[in-house]
Amino acid sequence: MSSVVVVGAQWGDEGKGKITNALCSDADLVVRFQGGANAGHTVSLDGVPIVFHLLPSGISVPGIQNVIGPGVVIDPIALAVEIAGVTERGVEVGENLLIDVGAHMVLPYHKALDAAEERARGQSAIGTTHRGIGPAYADRCARDGIPIGALAAFDEFRPRFEEAVARKNKHITRLYGEQPLDAREMLEQLYPVAQTLARHLADTPEMIREAIRAGLNVLFEGAQGTLLDVTFGTYPFVTSSSTTAGGVAIGTGVPPSMIGEVIGIAKAYTTRVGAGPFPTEVTDDTARMIQERGAERGATTGRARRCGWLDIVALRYSIAVNGIKRIIVTKLDVLDSFETIKVCVAYDIDGRQTDCFPRTADELGRVNPVYVEMPGWMSVTKEARHESELPPRALAYLNEICRLADVDLCSVSVGAKGEAIVEFTSVF
Ligand code: IMP
Ligand code: MG
Repeated sequence: MSSVVVVGAQWGDEGKGKITNALCSDADLVVRFQGGANAGHTVSLDGVPIVFHLLPSGISVPGIQNVIGPGVVIDPIALAVEIAGVTERGVEVGENLLIDVGAHMVLPYHKALDAAEERARGQSAIGTTHRGIGPAYADRCARDGIPIGALAAFDEFRPRFEEAVARKNKHITRLYGEQPLDAREMLEQLYPVAQTLARHLADTPEMIREAIRAGLNVLFEGAQGTLLDVTFGTYPFVTSSSTTAGGVAIGTGVPPSMIGEVIGIAKAYTTRVGAGPFPTEVTDDTARMIQERGAERGATTGRARRCGWLDIVALRYSIAVNGIKRIIVTKLDVLDSFETIKVCVAYDIDGRQTDCFPRTADELGRVNPVYVEMPGWMSVTKEARHESELPPRALAYLNEICRLADVDLCSVSVGAKGEAIVEFTSVF
């Protein structure tokens, strides 16, 4: 089947943007199915990095049809800013971008509520990106949301928005004691945005299904990662969408039977942004080295990412939840200068050893990782383009990961540049 899902197998930031972008030479459609402007996908454009938040990572590649599916929550103001930003970098955004009319909007009050809720949580804060994601998905479920298609008829949108702001202001002022938002000011900002986005609005599910039927190559680009999935992640330290492969069906209208393969993206180590348990986290010099060499800073919020060793227990869980048969390992080059590399192969929970990923964040917070150590390769990998150009110990590391996780290797990314990839098997 010609449809492939690219999902993050960890806590996000696995390099899905770079991989999606690199796969565009073989793809016809790139479709985002969940998340919103909380995502930060860094792609190299003419050698200079560019970060996409809402735009699919195929937007900078000519000839690709990019779709923002109905499962995404769209901050229209942020999207308009992003379109202007990439246009400035010479990327044409026209018919190559379709925005599904059914995708719900993240409106300014969602962002205000996200921030207010986080402040109210105090010590228990999730560490959200403050992009309004949780409140927007909550409104969608509560049947209080506004789909982006509503922007096409602005005169009808206006009173609907004013009514919503009036109600949300009660929450903002009475519940959180914060300043009310001004509907008129926001409408002035939204009006030109609606004009910009209107030409991209479309009914996309049947178009995507038809593309698959016609044998075109469709790439579904996940945002965040499996362990941030609202159902299967480390709840409540998760995002509010279905980040796993199942999210494709509910986020695009493409049935599970039309989904070909699910490819998992995993870094050669692990990172996490925000709060929540992270068994293999390290806080010593190793963490600093990974953070510096891997430029591990949030692409959306600029926060330093927490860093640690590769966690096979978590990876196996992701593989099971998503039905992953092949993985793409990214940022292998970040480990180039480690004498010894650790891999977590099991958890010790209250004196009992297990290779099952716990279903509660509380239990996950109590595990002690059981490590095996492997010798590092201590040489530069970023120029490698073929298996034979990888140091034998780097290959041994990759082979061991695949053996432990019981998956095949699709390819390995060895640097930020688009071409810094060693392909073992092709995606399409
Ligand atoms: P939210 O998605 O902004 O609600 O944030 C919820 C949690 O998901 C926080 O821990 C965030 O740091 C994390 N998160 C959200 N988006 C991303 C992402 O794109 N990469 C990594 N972590 C993310
Ligand atoms: Mg990211």
